[in-house]
Amino acid sequence: APGELFKKGAAMGDLHVLRSSATGGCSVVINADGIIEDVSTDDDIAARYGHWSFDHKLDASGCCVLPGLVDAHSHPVWGGDRVHEFILKLAGASYLEVQASGGGIQYTVDRTRDTPDQELLTLLLQRLRRMLASGTTLLEAKSGYALNADGEVRLLRLLHQAAAFTPITISPTFLGAHAIPPLMASDEATRQVIEEQLPAVMAAKELGELSVDAVDVFCEVGAYSIAQTRAIADAAQRSGLKLNLHVDELTPLDGAKMAGEIHAEAVSHCEEVSPEGIAALAAGGTVAVLLPTTQLLLGLKAPPAREMIDKGVIVALGSDFNPNAYCLAMPTVLHLACALLRLSPAEALTAATLNAAHALRRSTSHGALRPGMVGDLMVLRAPRWEHLIYQLGEHASLIEQVVCAGRVV
Ligand code: NIG
Ligand code: FE
Repeated sequence: APGELFKKGAAMGDLHVLRSSATGGCSVVINADGIIEDVSTDDDIAARYGHWSFDHKLDASGCCVLPGLVDAHSHPVWGGDRVHEFILKLAGASYLEVQASGGGIQYTVDRTRDTPDQELLTLLLQRLRRMLASGTTLLEAKSGYALNADGEVRLLRLLHQAAAFTPITISPTFLGAHAIPPLMASDEATRQVIEEQLPAVMAAKELGELSVDAVDVFCEVGAYSIAQTRAIADAAQRSGLKLNLHVDELTPLDGAKMAGEIHAEAVSHCEEVSPEGIAALAAGGTVAVLLPTTQLLLGLKAPPAREMIDKGVIVALGSDFNPNAYCLAMPTVLHLACALLRLSPAEALTAATLNAAHALRRSTSHGALRPGMVGDLMVLRAPRWEHLIYQLGEHASLIEQVVCAGRVV
């Protein structure tokens, strides 16, 4: 879209950092609507505003101020957990073996169905609070643990209700095509997503009961084929929704190639992406959302992040928070992106701010500290911003403040 901001290639490592000098610091000015007015040195700000009588001031002396983090891929609404599978996987079981033996997504679908709304909402809000404390201020959040029309509408409604209780901005994605329901043929499941689930979601959206930005499909052996994914993607595009697809995670099906060709807004995973897939993503302007927590946990091969960046793919990051990959903290994801995918810290920050916002087509409003954007930021108690990535594992005392739309949260 016109005006969309993102960075690719060498520009991903090119950050604009304002530094304090011996004579003065820097400030971000946010207006009463929560929009950034100015980011500049204090001298400039004093000259422009002629005063320092702002309504509220947050002293960040000795700290670094960064944009709020954007998590471009999460599954935060579900009941139960799968810690028993974690242990099985450590002992050598593969993701698809666990799934075939009755575990995996279907296990969580059953637990989620049996969890009352109020409890699911409480769990969701607890998870959002922990994400926020780790600096996430914009989150893509998927449904996908119901696999039928009523249940998927229920999960999207819960996301909509949660939005009223959290300062995190949520971009909801409908993932009715997360798995094939038990005893159902995959063609029937595809038909059911297109003819039952999607219309139910759109009808509830029309009534204002939920909001939905995008559609996701798990394109994988044992889930949805390329042709089935394409059929669901067509229906989504006809409904005016964006596409944000799980592709080429466990099996090289050339999902990225298909997604680039149909100009999907984003794809995730790409561990098994082909050279043609990389070329198609670059040509289609499709953002590749990489998920290093899942790669680590399932022992997958690393997606070719360096090659993607070199070939001009817009690379972003996501937590993939789900019962299989239980990580809520984007700073950990950034650390893994550097350690496992060989991104530089600057590239990782771009991937988890501006480029992740672009995966949600929100980079005109989120993902950078510049005038006109939403005042989402964090204050880091550290002498250099790279401490956000360098310090692995505990962020509570490092991230001193999180600000959403100009409000300390
Ligand atoms: O991104 N691959 C499909 N979806 C999730 C896993 C969901 C689950 O196992 O519950 C993923 O890894
Ligand atoms: Fe996922």
